[in-house]
Amino acid sequence: MIFSFIFFVLASQIVAQTLRRERLLMDRNWRFSFGHTSDHDKDFNYGAAYFSSYAKSGFADGPASSMFDDRAWRKLNIPHDWAVEAPFDSKASLSHGFKAIGRNFPERNIGWYRKTFFIPKSDDGRKITIEFDGVFRNSITWINGHYLGVEPSGYSSFQYDLTDYLNYGGENVIVVRVDAGMEEGWFYEGAGIYRHVWLVKTDPLHVDYNGTFVSTVVAKNLATVKVRTSVVNDGKAKADFTLKHFLVNAQKKKIDSIAVGSTSLAAGASHELTAQLTARSPMLWSLENPYLYKMITTISSGEKLIDTYETTFGMRDIRWDPNQGFFLNGKHVKLQGTNNHQDHAGVGTALPDELQRFRIAKLKEIGCNAYRCSHNPPTPELLKACDELGMLVIDENRLMGSSDQNLKELKRMIVRDRNHPSIILWSLGNEEWSMEGTERGARIVSTMQHYARRLDSTRLYTAAVSGGWGNGISTVLDVMGYNYISHGNTDQQHKIFPLQDGVGTEEGATFSTRGIYADDKEHCHLNAYDWDPTDWGASAEEGWTYYNKRDYLAGMFVWSGFDYRGEPAPFGWPAIASQFGVLDLCGFPKDNSFYYKSWWTTSPMLHLFPHWNSGMPAERKKGEPVKVWVYSNCDEVELFLNGKSQGRQKIQKDSHAEWSVPYIPGKLEAKGYINGKNVSSEIIQTTEKASTIEMKSHKPEIKADGEDLAIITVSELDKAKRFVPDANDEIVFTIQGPGKIIGVGNGDPSSLEADKYIDEITEERVTDWKVKTLNSNDNLTEVMIGTDDTGWTAMSNMKNDNNNATKVFRGKFVLPEKTEHLSVKVLLPSIGNEQGAYLNGKALKLDRTNSSLGNEVTIDAAQWKAGENIITIVADAQRHEELKVLVQITKSATPWKRKLFNGLAQVIVQSTGGTGEIILKAVSGKLNGEMKISVKPSQARVEVE
Ligand code: GAL
Repeated sequence: MIFSFIFFVLASQIVAQTLRRERLLMDRNWRFSFGHTSDHDKDFNYGAAYFSSYAKSGFADGPASSMFDDRAWRKLNIPHDWAVEAPFDSKASLSHGFKAIGRNFPERNIGWYRKTFFIPKSDDGRKITIEFDGVFRNSITWINGHYLGVEPSGYSSFQYDLTDYLNYGGENVIVVRVDAGMEEGWFYEGAGIYRHVWLVKTDPLHVDYNGTFVSTVVAKNLATVKVRTSVVNDGKAKADFTLKHFLVNAQKKKIDSIAVGSTSLAAGASHELTAQLTARSPMLWSLENPYLYKMITTISSGEKLIDTYETTFGMRDIRWDPNQGFFLNGKHVKLQGTNNHQDHAGVGTALPDELQRFRIAKLKEIGCNAYRCSHNPPTPELLKACDELGMLVIDENRLMGSSDQNLKELKRMIVRDRNHPSIILWSLGNEEWSMEGTERGARIVSTMQHYARRLDSTRLYTAAVSGGWGNGISTVLDVMGYNYISHGNTDQQHKIFPLQDGVGTEEGATFSTRGIYADDKEHCHLNAYDWDPTDWGASAEEGWTYYNKRDYLAGMFVWSGFDYRGEPAPFGWPAIASQFGVLDLCGFPKDNSFYYKSWWTTSPMLHLFPHWNSGMPAERKKGEPVKVWVYSNCDEVELFLNGKSQGRQKIQKDSHAEWSVPYIPGKLEAKGYINGKNVSSEIIQTTEKASTIEMKSHKPEIKADGEDLAIITVSELDKAKRFVPDANDEIVFTIQGPGKIIGVGNGDPSSLEADKYIDEITEERVTDWKVKTLNSNDNLTEVMIGTDDTGWTAMSNMKNDNNNATKVFRGKFVLPEKTEHLSVKVLLPSIGNEQGAYLNGKALKLDRTNSSLGNEVTIDAAQWKAGENIITIVADAQRHEELKVLVQITKSATPWKRKLFNGLAQVIVQSTGGTGEIILKAVSGKLNGEMKISVKPSQARVEVE
């Protein structure tokens, strides 16, 4: 009875929430076009008006104006990364993986985004804000022609208040100009609105943006839950209200509640209220059971519910010990971490949420329990995946500094992210060479720590330090973050600062290419046996052995978990991606990942390599010695070649077993033993040529929500259904049903193949307008192609005559060579009554019921020609300024394709919203493959239309 009452209360709260507070996804149906860094004309004359964007409010010009005609622009959904769509170019930045953007590519640095959306009349009186999870970078935003602000950061989330500027009961236009010409990182960062956008509607009296902080103190069988809530009154009058919190478990059952008391806020004021709740026998958030609670916070006035705000959090206890490392819920956890950047194969930095989960799950598979967001705050969805899957996180600030702006950045990260139970440590920055060993550095970090503790004192602060250990910032950090043991002596630091905690924020930095067992420098491929390639890094085995031996070090974060674009050390062009990862760009495991798996997981496992085909890449000759390695957590491993023992070896802790075996094609087998019992085995066989293509999805069915993914592994099998590890065929893909391909990859760090196959949209403007007033339009020779227009008036010379007489307007535009991939659309404005339009003398089919913007006409291939085309418009019009007629040229995409790289490729398929079955087909010469993915009904997120 009590339970159903509580459920009723909560259910009504949730209904109320949708009425009072709405958070709508705003990802769909944006219009996009490139502008230009230096050519005004190509930047749509933005900023050229006499009174422009910054002169007068509401006077935004060019595409920033709400009046701008964007119909010729490409339609797309966010998240979007235009850098990954660009071709590779040796003149582009190495750091950004040679994608053709940056200083040398002014035509691909500026991206304009526009979205028209409707706000109902009934929203008048509500508070309406737009939230950007992250835009790379230097964005300027306008609403309905009014300037809202500039956001330089490519990583911080930000919001603007739209309330006063909106048309209620009408259309609104939000415009974002993004300038990705400048890099922040020395790694790939993408370009554009690459994270979600939200529209949030609340009452003027509401819980602030990221306005709650829920933290727990767990003692014995009781959790004390502290809530800090910022309430804002943006109304014009004083507001009296009551704040309540309901603590709800994962089964939606109420655990505790509290009324914080009645209070009031003056108009324009904000206030932080604190409260405390308790949970008996709490379900603690842990790596094995990442149990999440919700705090539902309500603001009400009398009986009236005004705002409802949900905070997801976990109850857990974290503790650092300078001698023993890190403890979660009282249990010692050695941090088995990886560093990661944001990008993935095929999609760059624009990751759908499911891809974030996929990546975290891949890391968990190898026993990784901690993730460092190097070197910037991540998207909130990454943290959500870590909360839900059980992954500890170091959240990292981008640029170290204690100026107002630097501290504001730090604050934004902490205030946005501090409810995530996964976060165990804040990082103030990474390898700040100018100051890490200096007094100035110590002052700056000390200021940052003091400042940050007021925002979150439940976690400690670190920075990743690559030098000057014993001096500078290493003397003031809560937790010393060691970047590479080659840079100093951790034992010494621990001895001098015995009360300071320590963790290896970076170690490893090994180079390896998946599936490569002999260096092939020409193709920028390096062998995957664990070796120490740099003067700063260490092999996986050296690094982990060092950290695992020392209890005072809480653990180690490998550089890096996944490969990423950019930083293609030790190569330059044509290598476009790093090779540091233990997983490649697609998340396919490299052999090194099994080293970590063998010491980071406990179920008996064994991994045997290399493959046993003859090419590696040089031909293996019969009898030639081949290094055979095994990673295993068994006591002993015995190796057999074609049934003959090659010897049994004891596996040393944190090490591997190694044999030299003469190459004879056939069967290589390793057997692992614990206490003399065979508990794990692996067989690798020499395969025949491939006979079929196999495709497997990371999950059997996906949701019809327009967002979910099937991440497909593509490989080739021989007649005996064995995986062919050296297959490198190009495969062409086609897709049918409610799904689309959004990216392809194969993990090759020097592949210059396209990541995306998308329509190319360009825009031509009709120019050289001339006009003639008609006496009669009975016999319209003026629209004919050969008409002599020498006596007509050039539009630019025409005087205002206030004359509504029928006129013929004639302009020209140029089209490229004809191919079957090109289609042409003319976008006409509405210029007056009785209009007719002609292309090269032939009438265009106009739809007179079309919107006030005018007609969009797709031109039949027979009607346009390469070179000059002539358009004439006949209308009763008194127009004297230049006519704006646009021509959209679409070059349709070629089919999706990708080579296998050492046997594997990845295709990322996304739901388009419908249910049914997706059929993905693959063809390579005579080889075929097909797979079906079922798409199940599912509620899509509520979106702004
Ligand atoms: C570190 C740096 C990382 C990455 C790594 C490669 O110095 O913090 O971002 O560049 O080296 O080993």
